[in-house]
Order: sequence, then C-alpha cells, then structure tokens
Amino acid sequence: MKKIICAVGTRPEAIKMAPVILALKQSEHINCKVLATAQHRDMLDQVFDIFNIVPDFDLDIMRPNQTLTTLTARLLLNLDSIFHSEKPDAVLAQGDTTTVMTIAMACFYHGIPFGHVEAGLRTGDLSNPFPEEMNRVVAGKLAKWHFAPTERARKNLLNEGVDENDIQVTGNTVIDALHSVVDSSPEIGIPLDSSKRLILVTAHRRENFGEPIKEICRAILHLVEHNADIQVLFPVHPNPNVHQIAHELLGHHSQIILCDPLGYLPFVAAMKAAHIILSDSGGVQEEAPALGKPVLVMRHRTERPEAVEAGVVKLVGPVFENIISETQRLLDNPYAYKQLARNISPYGDGKASQRIVETITKWKI
Ligand code: UD1
Ligand code: UDP
Repeated sequence: MKKIICAVGTRPEAIKMAPVILALKQSEHINCKVLATAQHRDMLDQVFDIFNIVPDFDLDIMRPNQTLTTLTARLLLNLDSIFHSEKPDAVLAQGDTTTVMTIAMACFYHGIPFGHVEAGLRTGDLSNPFPEEMNRVVAGKLAKWHFAPTERARKNLLNEGVDENDIQVTGNTVIDALHSVVDSSPEIGIPLDSSKRLILVTAHRRENFGEPIKEICRAILHLVEHNADIQVLFPVHPNPNVHQIAHELLGHHSQIILCDPLGYLPFVAAMKAAHIILSDSGGVQEEAPALGKPVLVMRHRTERPEAVEAGVVKLVGPVFENIISETQRLLDNPYAYKQLARNISPYGDGKASQRIVETITKWKI
C-alpha cells in the first residue's frame, strides 16, 4: 500500500482537501494519513468536524497574530521531524498558503514526491495576493503532479516551463465539496430579517490590512445608511487585523450583523440566501458563481479570472467608490443584477477529487 499524506493548514485547504481525503480513504491501494499543520485552529477544526475527518498528526502551529516569518520557520521545523519519522511515499496539499509552500519545501528536502492541488493559479504580481502568489510559485516549482483546476491554470504552468505530462486539468475540488453539502438544505442559524435583501461579506486578505479594510468597512456602512431595505451579514475572520477594525467600525448598526466565522454548512446557506456577495476570498469567488450569486471582489487583482471573463464576478478593489457604486447598481438595476447572477461554474464539474485519486492510485512508486 502506498502511504500518502494529505497536509492541511487552514479553513479553505480543509474544505478543498476534504473530498480528496475522503476519496483516498476509500481506496484499498492507499494508506491515507491526514496531517493538520493547524496554521488555523478553530476554523480548521470546524471543517474537519463537518466532513468527519480526524487528523492522524496535528502540529498545532497556530499562534495569535502570527507573523509570516515565524509561521514559516515553525512549520518547516515541525514538518522536518514528521517527514523524517513517517516517510510517506507522497504528499498532497492544496492551494497557496504558508502551509502549502512549506510542505512543498519540506518534501523537496526529504526527496518526497509532492502533488499540488489547485496548481497554476497566477496573477503575475508577487504582492497581489500577498504572500499567496509567492507560495504558489514555490509550490509549482517543486511539484511532481500539478492538478490544475482550469485550462487557464494549465497554460500558466506551461508558460513557466512545466512539462505538459505533469499537468492534469481536474477542475477545482471546491466544487466537489460544495456539491457534497449544497443539497442537504443547510441553515444559516442566525436570525435574519426576511423583508430585507441580504448582502454577505467576507474579508481577510493581508494586502487589504490597514487602510483598505477600513475603506471596505466604510463602504458597507455607507450602503446600509442609504438602503433601508438591505441587511449585511459579515462573518468576521478572527485575524486581529480584520476583527478589531470590523467590530470598531461596524459593530453598532442595526442593519449589520457581525458574527464569528460560520461553519461550512451555514456559510453555504448564507451564500444561497444572499442577494449580493462582497468578498476578497478566493474560495467564495469559485463557489458563488456555481450558486448563481453575484460576487463583487474587493481586490485589485485576481488569480481566478475565469468567472470575471464569464461576466459573473466583478473586481471592485478594496475601493470605497467602486464598492458602493457597483453594489448600488446591482441593488437598483434588475437587468445589471440578472447579468451578474447567472449560474455559470467555470471551476469544475464536481469530479476533481476522483481524477486526482485515479492519478495517485495509478502511480507506480
Ligand atoms: C491564511 C492564509 C491565506 C488564506 C486564509 C484563509 C497564509 C499566509 N495566509 O490567512 O492565504 O486565504 O488563511 O482563511 O497562509 N486565527 C484564529 N483562529 C483561526 C484562524 C486564525 O484565531 O482558526 C487568527 C490568529 O490570530 C492567527 C491569525 O488569525 O495568528 C492569522 O492566521 P494566518 O493563518 O496566519 O493568516 P490568515 O489571515 O488566516
Ligand atoms: N467559509 C466558511 N465560513 C465563513 C466564511 C467562508 O466556511 O464564515 C468558506 C467558504 O465557503 C470557502 C472558504 O471558506 O469555501 C474560503 O475561505 P477563506 O475566504 O478564508 O480563504 P481563501 O479561499 O480566500 O483562501
């Protein structure tokens, strides 16, 4: 049996790796072990609980308000000893976090084949998103298998000189995860005013810390002050750089509900109930179009241009004027709303994890 470690650090990695882990565990040819770096703690555990995943190893890395340098150093040190003792045949990890970058590096140092799930996303700008663009480039340089979600991602990798035989277009596993929960009629679990249109907000990107996150909050405040018929639900990321500002600026308005991060099921319910989504998240940009919900992306650049090009996601930046004008346009203009609220899913057919597992199963050590 091949021993495959699936490594997971943060909430989105857990959501996107859950279908891969569950499929690998079904295979009689594979001994699948789950390594939680726990770069996130509570938000990671929330996802593991939903998908009934119990990690075999837990590095318990997270510290309050961790810096990128200390996080990276602690991850590498801990991964060194776990790879030394466990000697996996291969390791899989997803995305662009510090966990993924350090997993790729530790695999390289230990001579362990590394499979990159969600490979080939690029903005071409190392500071947008920061530090994720660098994390992906490093992971991409070191991967044996590149599981690209889209044709565009495959082309990005080919442009960087990756051998075409090492790239497989699989779709994004987030669609697999979404399909596995969306029909279970999840509930948000937070009382909302059904007479008002719901605007769902998430924000957490490091490049938006400081003035941009304040600008995002001021725009949300402006919107509720000028639209009595909307309410905002903002599950606030626990990063202190977001949490503190959001509560300071938005904590006292009757049309704004700030809550702790929602579990995946309630969050999917919130996306389904939302009229408009404002977000700087990567995963939300992929899920919302599959649910036919318009997303205004509060970032200057996106490594997920497919939905923008399909006309169902719009980039507004973390920019006050753009956020209010585009949101207001969607609120006031049913035609503009309908144009953006089309059910188009450029990120996969829900079978990405199956394709990944087939490749790993066929691989001869
Ligand atoms: C991380 C990833 C980012 C990803 C995001 C998903 C990096 C550098 N950043 O950003 O790419 O989009 O996760 O959410 O890899 N915290 C808690 N509880 C938790 C999680 C976080 O309290 O369950 C707080 C802690 O104070 C922690 C801080 O948030 O130190 C930052 O966590 P970190 O993983 O470094 O960065 P994120 O902003 O969460
Ligand atoms: N999500 C969640 N609860 C929340 C907010 C988001 O379960 O309160 C899910 C969301 O559906 C998506 C993922 O978390 O699958 C996105 O995570 P995040 O925005 O933190 O990271 P990113 O995708 O930007 O890396």
